[in-house]
Amino acid sequence: MDIKKDSTKSEKIEDLAKRRGFFNQSSEIYGSLSGLYDYGFLGASLKRKWEALWRKHFLDEDFAFEIETTNIMPEPVFRASGHLENFIDPTTRCKKCGTVHRADHIIEEFLGESFEGLSAEKLTEIIHRHRVKCPKCKGQLEDAATLNMMFPLTIGTGEGTKPYLRPETAQGVYVNFSRAFEQLRKKLPLGLALIGKAYRNEISPRNLLIRQREFTQAELQIFFDPERIGVHERFEQIADYKLRLFTLADKKSNTITEITCKDAAAKLKLPQFYVYHLAKIQKFYLDVLKLPIDKFRFRELSEEERAFYNRIHWDIEINLESLGGFKEIGGLHYRTDHDLKGHGKISGKDMSISIDDRRFIPNVLELSFGVDRNVYALLDLSYHEEGDEKDRRIVLRLPQLLSPFDFALFPLVNKDNIPEKAQEIKKMLKEKGFGIFYDDSGSIGRRYRRMDEIGVAKCITIDHQTLEDSTVTIRDRDTMTQIRVKIDDISSYI
Ligand code: ATP
Ligand code: GLY
Repeated sequence: MDIKKDSTKSEKIEDLAKRRGFFNQSSEIYGSLSGLYDYGFLGASLKRKWEALWRKHFLDEDFAFEIETTNIMPEPVFRASGHLENFIDPTTRCKKCGTVHRADHIIEEFLGESFEGLSAEKLTEIIHRHRVKCPKCKGQLEDAATLNMMFPLTIGTGEGTKPYLRPETAQGVYVNFSRAFEQLRKKLPLGLALIGKAYRNEISPRNLLIRQREFTQAELQIFFDPERIGVHERFEQIADYKLRLFTLADKKSNTITEITCKDAAAKLKLPQFYVYHLAKIQKFYLDVLKLPIDKFRFRELSEEERAFYNRIHWDIEINLESLGGFKEIGGLHYRTDHDLKGHGKISGKDMSISIDDRRFIPNVLELSFGVDRNVYALLDLSYHEEGDEKDRRIVLRLPQLLSPFDFALFPLVNKDNIPEKAQEIKKMLKEKGFGIFYDDSGSIGRRYRRMDEIGVAKCITIDHQTLEDSTVTIRDRDTMTQIRVKIDDISSYI
């Protein structure tokens, strides 16, 4: 089920990313801090395009709106949310070399099984029982301890309340709920989305964009009446749609359960409101981003694995060759009234609302996505190599909608009025709103290869014939075939 790991693939992706402008380590000229990445011109474009598609797909409901909130928030926010007490990772220090590791991860690597969510005591017991050693120097490990993953900050002179960088965008939405509910005519469901940075002091950042200390989340918090979790007014529309689920029971056989939404609700006892959003998420990956179906699944989390605030929690996972299996890139979280209740208690403000003479605290369904993990997944899935060592073609088969430019434009030669004609076509296409990469140097073959590597799907060449009959060639990235088309028809090839 899990894909075979190609350990060289992540190096190849990193090399391409740095060389061509997807991403690189931040502050590189000073030696960099681990777990921090900057995006170059191509990576930033890919990320923005993913975000635009996410907005289009998830904010198409009449009740969903986007807000923006600060990254710095005061300590009581995280007392209320439970992050001060519970947002901890297990650590263990090597007695020999002093390296601090994430305890559950190195045990997982040592024993080839997942140990997420176990207490420090349980992990200590496993370390002793299986004589787990330091992966760096094979030294003995200390007992597991815990570390809070939030970054504390000093504000002003450091007196007064201690702020933190937010570890999830969600809390910015929750502290604004009451105000937004008033502004949006006191109706449920109410969806508030936020795309922004989150910060976590990961002990061992790794796998490039997958585990960073500063990263972007795209999250939609849907506030709803808990009495209505068992229904969704448009459930009929998706009742026969098949979900790809990796349930706890599927773990043994390592297979996927394909099950209709109506059966997921009836047989797996998942509430309709939850199932509807599983379908919505799966459609985003399969229909909008056009991922191969076998690369996608939802994974059910056990009680120990679930985040401390969730009652129902399935991760969104994508099978990545460079990392050797399904990796979490998001999740669908039923957070109940955990957060609003906590904020009500700590702030002293009433978080309950009144609808039809009933007073209650809304519940929250959270659609959570790591944008950088999505970007990395797209690079992993799109990266292909063809040919042999003598003549290797790297091609990034990004879906057209995510391609960094709609067209590349090449004047065949820099004379005979060809550049002028190319400029004219460029202007015309830009005016129509297309993103154009203009390249007038080097052989046409090399120009094609450069565009293949960064995922541009269509390359247009302007040559002598263009001047005679107003046609150009369009070359397709994936098939490498070329066709001649009228200048006026170019836009229909996108
Ligand atoms: P993991 O188990 O991999 O540590 P998590 O379960 O802690 O992740 P969540 O707390 O559910 O992650 O965060 C929501 C989403 O934010 C994740 O699904 C992921 O896409 C993204 N995310 C979380 N931590 C990181 C990180 N360190 N770097 C990049 N993205 C992250
Ligand atoms: N907001 C969900 C998470 O970060 O885990």
